[in-house]
Amino acid sequence: MRKFTLMLALLASSFSALAGPMEDREDLIAHYKKMLPDIRFENYVYGSLSMNPDAKSQYDEFMSFPSYSMDLEKGQHAWEKPFANGKQFSSCFPNGGKNVAGNYPYFDETAGRVVTFENAINACLKANGEKELPYGEAEMGLLTAYAKSLSDGMKVNVRVEGKGALAAYEKGKEYYYARRGKLNNSCASCHVDSAGKLMNGEHLSMMIGQATHYPVFLGGTDITTLQKRFMQCGKNMGGAPLEANSETYNDLEYFMTYMSNGLPMQTPVYRR
Ligand code: HEC
Repeated sequence: MRKFTLMLALLASSFSALAGPMEDREDLIAHYKKMLPDIRFENYVYGSLSMNPDAKSQYDEFMSFPSYSMDLEKGQHAWEKPFANGKQFSSCFPNGGKNVAGNYPYFDETAGRVVTFENAINACLKANGEKELPYGEAEMGLLTAYAKSLSDGMKVNVRVEGKGALAAYEKGKEYYYARRGKLNNSCASCHVDSAGKLMNGEHLSMMIGQATHYPVFLGGTDITTLQKRFMQCGKNMGGAPLEANSETYNDLEYFMTYMSNGLPMQTPVYRR
C-alpha cells in the first residue's frame, strides 16, 4: 500500500512538472486567439505575412519560383557529398534524415544540454572524422535549409520531459520574457504583447510559428538561421546580442520551438 501511494505521489509530481510547458503553450495560443481572432492557428507559420494579404500574395508568387533554388542545390550537394570514409549525413539520422527535423531541439540527458539540429549536423561530422561547420554561417545555413526540407510537412514535435529538460525550457522562457537593452523591452514585448501591430511598415509576428520555417532567405537572397534572427532582433533591442550556439540561445530555441508544436515545418522560405 505504501509503495502504491509513493508511486502515485511520484506520478503526480512528474505530471505537475510537465503541466508547465503545456499550460504555457495553451495560454499563449489563447492570448493570440483573443488578440488576432481572424488568424487561424495553422496560418501562424506565415507570421507577419498572415496579417498582410498583399505581402502574402507576393510571398506566394516568390515561393512558386524561388530565386534561391540554385543556392539550395548547394545545400543538397553538401548533404549528399560522401565523407572521406564514404558515409553520408543520412547515416547519422533515423530514416535517412526524412521527417526528423521536427524533433529538434531535444534535451540530451547524458550531456545535460539542448541539442539543436545544427548541433546534430556537427556531431555527425565529428563522428565521421570531418571538420565541424561554423554555427550560423551560410554554409551551415544552406546545408540545414536543405536537410530540414526533407521534413517539410512534419509537425513540430519538441518534447520537454524530465528535470534537466524542464530547467533548460525554463531558462529559455526566462530569457524570452526578460526586459533588457536601451529600450528596456523583451522579446515578448513585441512578439507577444504587440503581435499584429505595425513596426517600420511590418506587422509584428506572433512567436508561435516562428521556429517552423528556419533557415529563411531574407529578402530572397540572404540565408539566415533562426539564431542569426535572434541576434538581429537582439541588436534592434539596443543591447548586445548573444552568440549563436550559446547555451542561452539554444535554450531559447528549445522554448520557442516547443511553442510551435503541432505546426507543420517548411524550410527554407522567403522572408522580407
Ligand atoms: C522592438 C520589437 C522587437 C523585439 C523586442 C524583438 N523583435 Fe523579433 N522581430 C521584430 C520585427 C519588426 C520582425 C520582422 C517582422 C516579423 O516577422 O515579426 C521580427 C522578426 C522576428 C523573427 C522572424 C519571424 C519570421 O517568421 O521569420 C524571429 C524569429 C524573432 N523576431 C525573434 C525575436 C526574439 C527571440 C527576440 C528577443 C531576443 C525578438 N525577436 C525581439 C521586432 C522585434
